[in-house]
Amino acid sequence: MLEAVNIHKCFIRNENTGIFRRRKQTKVNAVNGIDISIQPGQIIGLLGVNGAGKTTTIKMLAGLIKPTAGSISIDGINGVEHPNEIKKIINMISGGERNIYWRLTAKENLEYFGALYNLKKEEINAYAVKALDLVGLSDVKDIPVEQYSKGMKQRLQIARGLINNPKYIFLDEPTLGLDVSIARDMRKYILSLVKNENKGILLTSHYIAEVEELCDYVYILENGKIIASGLPSQIARMIQKGIKVVISVLHLPDDTLVRLQEFAAPHNADLNLDRNDSEVIITLQAQADLSIPLVSLLIGDNLQILQMAVSEPSLEDALIHLAMEASHLE
Ligand SMILES: Nc1ncnc2c1ncn2[C@@H]1O[C@H](COP(=O)(O)OP(=O)(O)OP(=O)(O)O)[C@@H](O)[C@H]1O
Ligand SMILES: [Mg+2]
Repeated sequence: MLEAVNIHKCFIRNENTGIFRRRKQTKVNAVNGIDISIQPGQIIGLLGVNGAGKTTTIKMLAGLIKPTAGSISIDGINGVEHPNEIKKIINMISGGERNIYWRLTAKENLEYFGALYNLKKEEINAYAVKALDLVGLSDVKDIPVEQYSKGMKQRLQIARGLINNPKYIFLDEPTLGLDVSIARDMRKYILSLVKNENKGILLTSHYIAEVEELCDYVYILENGKIIASGLPSQIARMIQKGIKVVISVLHLPDDTLVRLQEFAAPHNADLNLDRNDSEVIITLQAQADLSIPLVSLLIGDNLQILQMAVSEPSLEDALIHLAMEASHLE
């Protein structure tokens, strides 16, 4: 099990200010006392707006940067004191195209990174055959990476990140910039690593649907602090206001609108209207499911209902709500 307790990271930021470009140093508390745990066989999501502290957290867990304070234990090893020990059982894969050598071929990249883990040549070769087949790069394994597409480079990142057969894998936006079908394959593969090989995964992503689909548990970071954690559906419910009912009608007479407003107020519900040429879309959001009384009200006024949908808030709604709250506080 991986357990991080009360970890902090304070960076010193250098700024050039004024016409003489004097250097000024300021402290940035990128991570401000967080607890995270990951069990093998689990995918944990780390969500938050830009700058919330996700990458900094992952880098600390991966032993790439040292926490300013706090403890990290991975299968009983003290990760802060022994970063080289934990590197044998963890690996980090980040989205984008860094961490691989463009001049080298896919196979040469794996040979290079395998050597860093002191793997034997035969072990690396056996791994390369298996991994390159898995990520669909066998046919291009001898072509320099600079001639690869973004998706191909990204898939090579995956092969590189698994070369030491890590027990815990940190995925920092693994599907960034990938097209829909490759991203879908990647998600399938991530799931299979957890289900079939019992890996423990920490995932950050800006694609909320991806987090909802993959994660067993989610932490929400804001300004370096965890402000909520739970199942994806719980988080959404916790942060965003309850259940959304969307009903479209042909037209909405003024007296029905007044009745709607009178109905919404005591429930503390948000009422929104969107009118276009062919319909009026009524959206009502409240802690309780107001679909049945809303339909009764409209039918009572002889309105014809064209469409209706009732939905629980998504994690995406929750994050947008969070980001808006954060900007109000600034
Ligand atoms: N090396 C560094 N030196 C100084 N400040 C840093 C450094 N790395 C990160 N920061 C700051 O720490 C904060 C958290 O950054 P971090 O990269 O962890 O955020 P993030 O949640 O991964 O954001 P994104 O969604 O944009 O990837 C930001 O304010 C950032 O400017
Ligand atoms: Mg980041």
